[in-house]
Parts: sequence; structure tokens; C-alpha cells
Amino acid sequence: MGRIRTNSSTAEDLLIHVDRSAAEPLHRQIAASIRGGIRAGRLRLGTSLPPTRTVAADLGVARGVVVEAYQQLVAEGYLTSRAGGYTRVAVEPAPPTAGRSGADRPAAQIDFGYGRTDVSSFPRAAWLRSVRTVLTTTPNERFAYLDGRGVPELHVALTDYLNRVRGTSARPENVVICSGYGQGVALILQVLAARGARRLAVEDPSADDDARLVAAVAGLDVIGVPVGPDGLLVEELERTDADVVVLTPSHQWPTGGVLSATARARVIGWAQRRGAVVIEDDYDAEYRYDRAPVGAMQGLAPDTVVYCGTASKTLAPGLRLGWLLAPAHLVDEITAAKVRADRGSPVIDQLTFADFLTRGEFDRHLRRMRPVYRRRRDALLAALRARLPELEPVGVAAGQHVVTWLPQDLDEASVVAAAARRGLVVQGVSRYRVSPAGLGGLIFGYATLTERSIVDGVEVLADAIAEVRAQVRPQVPATDSGAVAGS
Ligand SMILES: Cc1ncc(COP(=O)(O)O)c(C=O)c1O
Repeated sequence: MGRIRTNSSTAEDLLIHVDRSAAEPLHRQIAASIRGGIRAGRLRLGTSLPPTRTVAADLGVARGVVVEAYQQLVAEGYLTSRAGGYTRVAVEPAPPTAGRSGADRPAAQIDFGYGRTDVSSFPRAAWLRSVRTVLTTTPNERFAYLDGRGVPELHVALTDYLNRVRGTSARPENVVICSGYGQGVALILQVLAARGARRLAVEDPSADDDARLVAAVAGLDVIGVPVGPDGLLVEELERTDADVVVLTPSHQWPTGGVLSATARARVIGWAQRRGAVVIEDDYDAEYRYDRAPVGAMQGLAPDTVVYCGTASKTLAPGLRLGWLLAPAHLVDEITAAKVRADRGSPVIDQLTFADFLTRGEFDRHLRRMRPVYRRRRDALLAALRARLPELEPVGVAAGQHVVTWLPQDLDEASVVAAAARRGLVVQGVSRYRVSPAGLGGLIFGYATLTERSIVDGVEVLADAIAEVRAQVRPQVPATDSGAVAGS
């Protein structure tokens, strides 16, 4: 029997023990020990495990045996491992087994809330290389106040990337660097309102914390335009007298539809006839799983469409890095608004991102993350199919979230509340509607959850839905007056 203790502060906790006389292979025994330690809460989230070499030496086994055990636990989502770094515990301990009623069930604390990218996968080493390059090669005078439009290196790197990958049609002089999409759309709406715009059309449902929020401040009336399975209903837009429309044409937020080529051409035609501006929010286009990428609308009409991109979904929302591709006639006014807002985005971050893009690190990061998110999405869809086939997932081919519509008899607010009582966070679609009417639905953000948590979360949701159903189902008296099978 070999044993090893953790290198964490709780050094008394036994981490691994193996029994050479047992029939079970050693790597499985090691994995089972660590898994058990995590489930029991002895190994907490973030605890680093000893190097495989140390464990192998202490247990007197080949290092490959320990590596295999660690890899198995990484695949199961219990551990995360970074090349050249520590292997750490990636999950909270599982909640104790629930009581039958569900009412006394302890909090599961699984969060399907939307909007969080997996920041634990931030490419620290590659980013650090770019920071180091910038700090060792950039002349001092570049760290003084800068042009509010951003640094030229990033304008060039972004146009190269976006024209190549997103099918945009832009020159470096069209780019304005901003602090995420949130600031970008605020700057554009501010400029358009100052130019006389009065009415803003938005997709219904759509995000309620950026364009719609800014509209109130900029004095714009908001018109909700319904969306269908293929995004915005263009015939409804054509009935409006909007001066500007905000769209998520590549992956409608939240319902996931993709605006067809014909619909895109019609939106552009409508805008050009009215002298309106189209704001394209290209927030998650990089993550595409089952179909070819859909190009940006900006490439079809660079004088009518302002394109907005963000690093929030691809790298980290905390970077606050975003970019606009604006028609020449809007660039100066947007830049002036940016200067008024904050005198320009941080120069070291911009130069770092430019270097990161130019080295091909951004492409590499996306290639690495796409299969990770895809596996999480697949786990979610498989769990929903198995446990809740009555929910209908839509817009699943891309992004970091999925929406499922609810059957008519399930009240959205009741499902969300029943889930919350079990420690499961899942948002309803209704709060994002402009007009209150519409199907109930749930939004599942899956970007930060391990496959195991996703499966567990769907299990908890199934339980919550069963409770809601039981409450609304009329009570049938327990008499023998019902029909008898075969009679
Ligand atoms: C529809 C939509 N657009 C854009 C963003 C990104 O916003 P920002 O770049 O300000 O972080 C998000 C983030 O969740 C989003 O949901």
C-alpha cells in the first residue's frame, strides 16, 4: 500500500492511496482516490496537486501511471491542467445526496447564467509574451496621451484579421478601439442622436443592458422588432420609421437565429432608402460548430453598417477590449465621443493585443477553445435530449449559450424559481423582451461549466420542472371510478 498527502495547507488530508494486491489498475485507483477527495471536499476548488513525478516517486509507480490518472480526471472536468504549470482542482465538492422531496435539497450551485466566458482558459503565457515584447520594444513616447481612435498597430492587425476571418471590408482608418461592445454602441448612438436620430429599432428579444439602456440616456425611442427562427423579421423592420437598428445577424441574441442572405440584403436596402444606420453586434461569431462561418454584414455595405467586435467572448470580458469598423463619415465624430468618454483605451493593452493577433496567437487560442465549448454544448444538448426532451433547443450551431422554448403549460417564472430553490441558476427569456407577449423560454450559458456540471444541472432542472408540473396538475381523487384497462 502506498500513500501520499496533499501539498495544500491541509497537509493531514490523505490524497492518494494504492493497493498493489488489488485487481484494479493503479491509474484507476489513483484517479478514484483523487476523485473521492474532491467529492468529499478534502480537495477544494483551486488546490494544486503535487507534480506527477513526485506522486510517482512517493507511491513507487511509473510516472506514466500518474499522468494517465490526472488526464482521466482532466477529461472528466475534476481537474484543470496548464502546459508547464500546476494541475488544479476545477470543481466544488458535489452537494450531499438530496432528500426525496427536493424541498430540503441543499444548494447545487450550478450556474447557467449567460455572459461568462471561460476565463480560466485565458492564454496567459502567450499574452505575457506579447506584454513582454511591448514593454521591451516600445519607445517611451508611445506611453503618453494617444489618439482617441487607438494605436495604428491594432488598427492594422484587426483589419487584417476581420477582413480575412469575418469577411468585413475595412481599412485601418475605419477602426475605432473602444472599451468593449458596451462602450462602442454607446458612442455610436450618442453620435447618431446628436445628428438627429430619434428612433432605435432593436431585436425583440434582445440584450437589455447595452443599446436599450443607452437609448434612454441618448433620448432615443426604442422599437422592438420581433425575431423568428432566422433572426429579425425584416418585413416588421420595414414597417418602422427607425433611424438606426441594432442587429446580431450572425447569431441572434438570445434565440440564435442566423439572418439569411436575402434578409441581410433587405435590411441594407431598407437602411439605404431611409438614410438609416445598421449597427452589427458580432459578439460571438468566432464560435461556430456545425456549419461554415457566416460572414459579417458590414462586408456587404461598409457605408451603411457599423461593425462592432469584442474580446469579451473570445478572451475575457475583463479586458474591456472592443473595436468598431465605422464608415468614413462617422469615424471622426465617434473618435471625438471616445475622447470625451475616457481619452482613449489603454495603450499597453492595445499594443499587446496587436502583437497577439499578429503572432497568430488569437487564431491559435480560438482553435484550442472551439472544441472545448463544442463538447460543453454537446453535453448540454445530450442531457436535454435524455432528461427533458419536451424542451426545444434553438440556435445551437454557434456561440456559448442555447435557448430552449418551454411547452405552453410550463410557466417560465415558476420554472426559474423552482430551479433557483435547488441552487440552479437559469435565466428566462421574458426579461429580454421589449413587448411582454411571447413564448416562455430558458437561456443556458454553458461556457464556464464542466460537462459533469452541465449534466448535473439538467438533472436538477428536470426535478424543478417535475415540481412545477405537480403543482399545476389538477388533483385526481383516488377513487376506483376510472376506466379499467381492457374493459
Ligand atoms: C449580445 C451581446 N453583445 C455584446 C456583448 C459583449 O459586450 P462587451 O464587449 O461590452 O463585454 C455581449 C456580452 O455578453 C452580448 O451578450
